[in-house]
Amino acid sequence: MINFAHKISTKMTEKYTKIKQIYEGKAKKLYTLKNYPELLLQEFKDDATAFNALKKGTILNKGTINCELTTFIFKYLGKRGVKTHFVKQISPNEMVIKRLKIILIEVVVRNVAAGSLLKKTTLEEGQILAKPIVEFYYKDDSLGDPMISDSHALAMKIATEKDMKTLRQMAEKINKILKPFFLKRKLRLVDFKLEFGKDKKGNIMLGDEITPDTCRLWDSGTNKKLDKDRFRFDLGGVNEAYAEVRKRITGKA
Ligand code: TMP
Repeated sequence: MINFAHKISTKMTEKYTKIKQIYEGKAKKLYTLKNYPELLLQEFKDDATAFNALKKGTILNKGTINCELTTFIFKYLGKRGVKTHFVKQISPNEMVIKRLKIILIEVVVRNVAAGSLLKKTTLEEGQILAKPIVEFYYKDDSLGDPMISDSHALAMKIATEKDMKTLRQMAEKINKILKPFFLKRKLRLVDFKLEFGKDKKGNIMLGDEITPDTCRLWDSGTNKKLDKDRFRFDLGGVNEAYAEVRKRITGKA
């Protein structure tokens, strides 16, 4: 009897009501929630942009697919000791997250040479890196998200030395977990981008999303690109690539 009553009251308080949109980015919106000042609702959109929004479009079911994938992957990381902002998926394209103070740094991890790395080095696309690379970018659209070093971050006071060490360690740990995770699903994790934030106590947690928008994923047998590069470079089969990644990870067609 007591358990039953408890279940009902938990269910009632878990009704999340959106109050106000506080942010709209290129692929997601954030809302505050009634009765939960320390949480937010993150909504995933079908909209896609590339090259700092110079290119715009939509990808069929991307909002739902990316919400499902982020839910699946953040739960997987959470079980392996990575603190994340994920709380609960509450609709096909919405999840409740912890409200964090976002650190204005995008952390990119690379296992295989691709994308902007090809313009900075003599490495050729597809070359396996002797050691994974961790890069930091200053999250500022007006500057076009420039690559920065630890010293730039400290000089601009966007992070402390300890924060930078934590970001690197967390990024490396996430890479170690996700490389075999994807490979089991016949996907090569070529590179990916992470964002982090701090909770009220100052704990650094993984935020944002992990999806084919923010990762390069190649078929492990053929190296076929199954990510946003199909949209960025007009390779065709964009919707199909997202659907394929969903199928391989969640089992849903
Ligand atoms: P890059 O090779 O263009 O620097 O991209 C590295 C990774 O970061 C790739 O997996 C795509 C992801 N990424 C984002 O998630 N957002 C961005 O704005 C950019 C430029 C890259």
